[in-house]
Amino acid sequence: MTAPESSPAFNLPSLSLSLRTLFTGFLAVIGLGMLMSGAQILLTHGMADGEFGVSRNDIVFSYYGNRNGSRMAEKLAGTMKDKASVADRAKLIEWIKAGSPRERWAPDVQPIVSSNCAKCHGTIPGLADFRTYKAVTAFTKVNDGASISALTRVSHIHLFGIAFISFFVCVIFSLSVGLPKWLKATVIALPFIFQFIDILSWWMTKWYPGFAYMTIVGGFSYHASSAFMILTSLYQMWVMPWRGRTSDEHAWIRLP
Ligand code: HEC
Repeated sequence: MTAPESSPAFNLPSLSLSLRTLFTGFLAVIGLGMLMSGAQILLTHGMADGEFGVSRNDIVFSYYGNRNGSRMAEKLAGTMKDKASVADRAKLIEWIKAGSPRERWAPDVQPIVSSNCAKCHGTIPGLADFRTYKAVTAFTKVNDGASISALTRVSHIHLFGIAFISFFVCVIFSLSVGLPKWLKATVIALPFIFQFIDILSWWMTKWYPGFAYMTIVGGFSYHASSAFMILTSLYQMWVMPWRGRTSDEHAWIRLP
């Protein structure tokens, strides 16, 4: 089925005011959502290594964890260093390295924790409570990053949610004019490819920290290709007609 060359062209600059309003409303909300997700990434993953800004280390900390040690060992060498004597800290670290055996908790470890740590951890609300064996061992296990169940949950939410967003952004962009066919089709494929790369990279980073770069590249490229489509669509819907420029390109049908 082909449209006669003389039928009016269907493309972004030729859309009715109501359709342009609908598309613009959607793109504006999605654009704002993307800015918010960028800010959210900065504030959560961005702070994972304790420094502002997203780096390879942040991604590694979030997905792979810090396998050299537990949260407790990390803190005993970090901000909690001055909370116990060298000898007591050494005993704690040695117990953590031995796998936090329960039979040594009451005789050896609990007295150190009670006298050095529990005056804050156990009294100050919101702070990790270290009064029981169970509560302490939650911090003495090796920190191996995101759990499989957390990754599965976040992956499926992202895959479904982002596919919807990309679909509508791409449908709108598919009505654009002036780009070579192959370039337009490539740009439309990109968000789906980068979304796939992004999610695959989380899983890969969980086992191989080297894949953290893939997360940064996938996430950045996803946003860049979406931003390109949103800005091009807005330009062609509003600026082109406003300047009196139209196009006779049939954006949605293949002419012979
Ligand atoms: C003077 C109060 C105080 C004492 C004493 C104290 N801590 Fe803390 N601890 C804090 C505060 C405040 C934080 C949160 C800020 C931070 O992480 O540095 C914290 C955080 C931690 C965390 C990280 C908890 C989390 O949710 O990730 C660990 C582990 C920890 N402390 C271990 C210890 C150990 C072990 C001792 C005893 C040797 C100890 N702390 C003694 C105040 C204290």
